This record gives sequence, C-alpha cells and structure tokens, in this order.
Amino acid sequence: MNIINDLWRLVTDDIGIDLGTANTKVAIAGVGLIATEPSVVAINKNTKEILAVGTPAKKMLGRTPANIVAVRPLRDGVISDFEATRDMIQYFINLAYQKSDKFIKIPIPRTVIGVPSSASEIGRKAVYDAARSAGAREVFVIEEPMAAAIGSGLPVNEAEGSMIIDIGGGTTDIAIISLGGIVVDKTIPVAGDQMDQDIVHYIRHKYNLLIGERTAEEIKIQIGSAYPLKKEINMEVSGRDLIQGVPKTLSISSIEVREAIMPSLSKIISAISDALEEAPPEILADLSVNGIVVAGGGALIRGIKDLFEDKLKMKFIIGDNPIECVVKGTQMLLEDIDLLAKVKQNYGNY
Ligand SMILES: Nc1ncnc2c1ncn2[C@@H]1O[C@H](COP(=O)(O)OP(=O)(O)OP(=O)(O)O)[C@@H](O)[C@H]1O
Ligand SMILES: [Mg+2]
Repeated sequence: MNIINDLWRLVTDDIGIDLGTANTKVAIAGVGLIATEPSVVAINKNTKEILAVGTPAKKMLGRTPANIVAVRPLRDGVISDFEATRDMIQYFINLAYQKSDKFIKIPIPRTVIGVPSSASEIGRKAVYDAARSAGAREVFVIEEPMAAAIGSGLPVNEAEGSMIIDIGGGTTDIAIISLGGIVVDKTIPVAGDQMDQDIVHYIRHKYNLLIGERTAEEIKIQIGSAYPLKKEINMEVSGRDLIQGVPKTLSISSIEVREAIMPSLSKIISAISDALEEAPPEILADLSVNGIVVAGGGALIRGIKDLFEDKLKMKFIIGDNPIECVVKGTQMLLEDIDLLAKVKQNYGNY
C-alpha cells in the first residue's frame, strides 16, 4: 500500500482541504499551505456556468447582476449546493496541480477533507462524492475538531485529555479528545458570521445606519474585542442613513463593538461550560493542567483569551496560526500514514 502511494506521489501531490464556511484552505503534503480563499462560487443562473471561485467571487457577493449569483455553497459547514461544492473542490485541486513542481503531473490527488463533527452521514457522503467527482482518486473525510487538534499539536493519541474550541465563520466546534477519539463534542451555529450580524443590528438600532455584512466584518477585525482594551479605539463607518436615505459616516468605538458581539461570545462560553460539565473527572484534571486550545478565525478577536479565562477559570491557549489549524491537521494526516489509519478507523471513510 505504501509503495503504491509512493508511486502515485511521483505524479500527483497529496492535498489536505479545510472546507470552511467562510474560507477554504488547501495544503500540499510535504509542502504546506498553498491557498486560503473565500468559500464562494459565482454562477451564471441561466447556463449554470461557474464564473469565478474564491476571492474574485467574494467581491461579487451583493453586487451581482440578475443573471449571476454568488453563493456560499457551505452553510454552517454543511453542503447546501452540491454542484458548487464539487466545482470549488475542483478549482482547488487544479490550483494544487498548477503549483506542483513535478516533472510529469496528473490532477488526481489523494485528499483528506475536514468536515464539521455535526455533519450527518449524508453530509459526509456528499463531501466524499463531491471530491471524487472533482477528480480526487482517494478521499478521507475527517472531523474538523480532530484535524484542528492534530494541527495544533495536541497529543490526540495519548491517554490524556485535550480540548479544542474552533471558532470559525458558521460554527463553533468544541471537542474534548482522548486516545484518538472525541469524548465530548458540541457544535453551535454561533461564530464569526453571527458576530458580523450582531454588529449590523447594533449599528442599525443605535444609529439608524444600515451597513453591509462585509463592512461589519471589517469593523470586527479592525476594532473588535472580547475584553476591555488598554486603550479603546475608534473607527469611521459608512452606510445608509435609514431615516434620510442618504449615505452617512460616523465613528464607532471598540467599546460599542464589544457590546454588540458580547451575546454571541456569551453563547460560546455557555457551550464551553456545558462541554466541561460533561467531561469525565480525570480528563477535566488534565485540562486544568494543559489548558484549552482556541483555533479558527474567531481566536484572533482581541482579548478572547482573557474573557474565557475570566469567565471559565481555566487556562486557554491561542494557537500559532489559528485559522490554519484544520488544514495543517489534514496535511499532517497525509504525512503520517499510521495516524491517518487510526483516525480513519475511528470515523470510517466518510
Ligand atoms: N483578525 C480577526 N479578528 C476577528 N475575526 C477574524 C479575524 N480574522 C478572521 N476572522 C473571522 O474568522 C472567521 C473565519 O474563520 P475560519 O476561516 O476559521 O472559518 P471557517 O473555517 O471558514 O468556518 P467554519 O469552521 O465555521 O466552517 C470569519 O468570520 C472572519 O471574519
Ligand atoms: Mg473551520
């Protein structure tokens, strides 16, 4: 089996894919991350032709003429549009193919793809089928929290408890792992996208100013925080005045943004607290010593570690490149055949 894989590797790279609700990340085994692009596909409604994938397609969101739709094919991490997902996977397989430095190359990779642990059997099968019909010759679908834990360097195979919180775009995945298996697992549909919505609503109610989701995301990234900052900051925000119907700009403070996103942060804290309550006592003791790792784009919100530590009285650790944990885990699985066999054995092929 290893020899066959070695032969394949002469002509095609093994690739790991994190099919995120917000961003798809792709890594080549032995190389590293090669792409992070928005999980958006622009489609001509009449001909069903794919017009753009990734960054150019995201620019079209909310700006498309009638015959073009820009869709996010994965909603809450579950496939909502099979064809668009297949085409997106195909686009990333081709991208890896273009970046490959092999002398003779064929775009038929072995792939490991992360899916949310909440994905149903049908959802997993859909991801598997989408990747197969996009040209992958072998597909392993694995649970994102497991991949995130591996990618964060947690000792998933030891008789020791590890815990990972992945705050993505659509969902927050919480998992406690021990001996290669997920012991406690919770997913809530509250993460980065919801915080963007929170900011849109807050500004509309407080100032009668309508802003778009992409502006809200920019506000969150630039001045969003979960805990009081040493020096609070402001940002100019433009939108449409709902009373006069004209464009208007005003200054928003980091204190206001924190107030806006706090309900979502509180829901995440409750879910973590519920997961901790379900943890067996020995594992809870391990977690008190080792800490809890926070991954996903949401881990980058300023002060999130301080807020979690303050509310939950446990130690939290923000990974090095939190957005890349899942894809790094898929890459590590492709590079470690024994680990892949073990994880595959626990979760089946899809
Ligand atoms: N610096 C930052 N501060 C706050 N939020 C950020 C930052 N950078 C990215 N984000 C947010 O992180 C989210 C995307 O994270 P990530 O790429 O981990 O999600 P995903 O894997 O696509 O989604 P999911 O795991 O739910 O399927 C977006 O909501 C984005 O706005
Ligand atoms: Mg994710």
